[in-house]
Amino acid sequence: MNKILDIITAKMQQAFIDAGYDASFGRVTVSNRPDLCEYQCNGALSAAKQYKCAPIAIANAVVEKLDANDYSLVEAVMPGFINLKLSGGFLRNYLDEMRTSPDFGVEKVGAGKSAVVDYGGANVAKPLHIGHLRPAIIGESLKRLHKFMGYDTIGDVHLGDWGLQMGLIIAELHERQPELPYFDPDFTGDYPAESPFTLTELEEIYPTASSKKSDPVFAEKAHTATYELQQGRRGYRAIWDHIMGVSLPDLRRIYGVLDVHFEKWLGESDADPYIPAMVSDLKERGIAVQSEGAWVIPVAEDTDKKDVPPMILVKSDGSAIYATTDLATMVQRMQDWNPDKMLYVTDKRQNLHFEQVFRAAKKSGIVKAETELQHVGHGTMNGADGKPFKTRDGGVLRLETLISDMTDFVRSKVVENKIVGEDEVEATTAKIALAALKYGDLSNQPTKDYNFDLERFAAFEGNTGPYILYTIVRIKSILARYGDWKHLSIQEPANPEAKELMLTITKFGPTMESALSNLAPNMICAYIYELAGTANKFYHETPILKEENEQLKAGYIALMGLTKEILETCIELLGFEAPEKM
Ligand code: ARG
Repeated sequence: MNKILDIITAKMQQAFIDAGYDASFGRVTVSNRPDLCEYQCNGALSAAKQYKCAPIAIANAVVEKLDANDYSLVEAVMPGFINLKLSGGFLRNYLDEMRTSPDFGVEKVGAGKSAVVDYGGANVAKPLHIGHLRPAIIGESLKRLHKFMGYDTIGDVHLGDWGLQMGLIIAELHERQPELPYFDPDFTGDYPAESPFTLTELEEIYPTASSKKSDPVFAEKAHTATYELQQGRRGYRAIWDHIMGVSLPDLRRIYGVLDVHFEKWLGESDADPYIPAMVSDLKERGIAVQSEGAWVIPVAEDTDKKDVPPMILVKSDGSAIYATTDLATMVQRMQDWNPDKMLYVTDKRQNLHFEQVFRAAKKSGIVKAETELQHVGHGTMNGADGKPFKTRDGGVLRLETLISDMTDFVRSKVVENKIVGEDEVEATTAKIALAALKYGDLSNQPTKDYNFDLERFAAFEGNTGPYILYTIVRIKSILARYGDWKHLSIQEPANPEAKELMLTITKFGPTMESALSNLAPNMICAYIYELAGTANKFYHETPILKEENEQLKAGYIALMGLTKEILETCIELLGFEAPEKM
């Protein structure tokens, strides 16, 4: 569907033409004086200069040519503004078309295009910590938004499963159980199917090994193990399989709790096979050059305001690094999926890394000139006091602990207020807690830092996830009490609150487009907060179910129904859903 602003601008341009003026003056904007009008056109003021006459005369002539049926107010005011309010009939038709169109008539700007969203970024063998919350939920939301806007999307978790952490674990395991067959180079049989460690053990092995990095002998051992693993040493590959087998189900489980789902569970290890050919090609074509024993890709540009160092492709000891893997991953993605767009959601402290990789990818032709590469660098989630989040003993908080803290807090409210029967407590709690967590995060601009405030995020009033859910639940209950409503059509607004709600509904499409182009789920949050506010106001001022005029009542219900469906669509794009009762 065309956007309202485009429709009334086109009509205004025609009116300028019909009145004898140039169409370019007919641009309509949302009013900056909502007390006076909803939309305005200031074109007569500029036209006056060109046509050398009084702006008000032009404005009056243009107003004459507009179709009065479209507006409840259309007037020329001094010195030459044109003020507009949409008519009830216009709004009714527009909203009813939204109601009956797929996805409310939103323009599928991504149709025919594809996007890869690289988000999550979990590291195998390390528990997810609070730093993994933002990339998971921002990425999930951006992926859903792209899909909604017509893109074919692939979400890839891009596991950290290939670096030194694997060598550290292998080295530590060797210190503890050198007799295991994995370490015997002459072993040719089948390795045990059962893992030599449990998840709990693994979660202890890694930090222990990591703390020994400063011991040069141990560090050397871990580096060698990493190297040999990457060279394909059979026993080490088998340990690696066990690490993955033990760690992945747990990662999947926690992402599942967050309602975060990846189409692909690929990782750095999957990029590894692409590295040798890529590196030799880059060397051969002179894209990679030698520098102090390493191979690098210079990526500085004349227009740079700050220093952009070359991307290191191969270190002087012959090993590949994070950037090498990311570049090789692009080779794989282009070859297998050929996407129009690749989006990376990570901490903004990785800005330079992605700047270097993106430039190297373009320079080398690994991606096409027109392939869109974007890094969504997010800010940090701090504690309620604004300081970095730490556990009581100063450690990094596990993501699971954060989720269960929120869940416990919400559960106590659900139980205390007897919101649902006992058997529904867990399911309802989970939905509200997820909404609190996700909305608390997503309502902030991704790049900004924010403070995690459990009580504020979980509050049922204010700009929170639970407030949005509460609004939806309330509307659902009105609709349920009314009965069958899906077939009801939208009617003209019967009161100012209805009109305000209808005007807010018309902003759905434009909001989705800006959220997409700005990669900003926070715009969806701001929109539903406004929509929930106008819906609640309407509901308060209008005795919906008590209305005796059946025709009028049906119109109210249709409006509530459309509001509910839009709110539900929006929260689905944010990655959470509403319970039945609250
Ligand atoms: N595992 C990485 C980290 O913990 C994040 C991966 C992000 N994605 C990527 N393609 N580099 O920092």
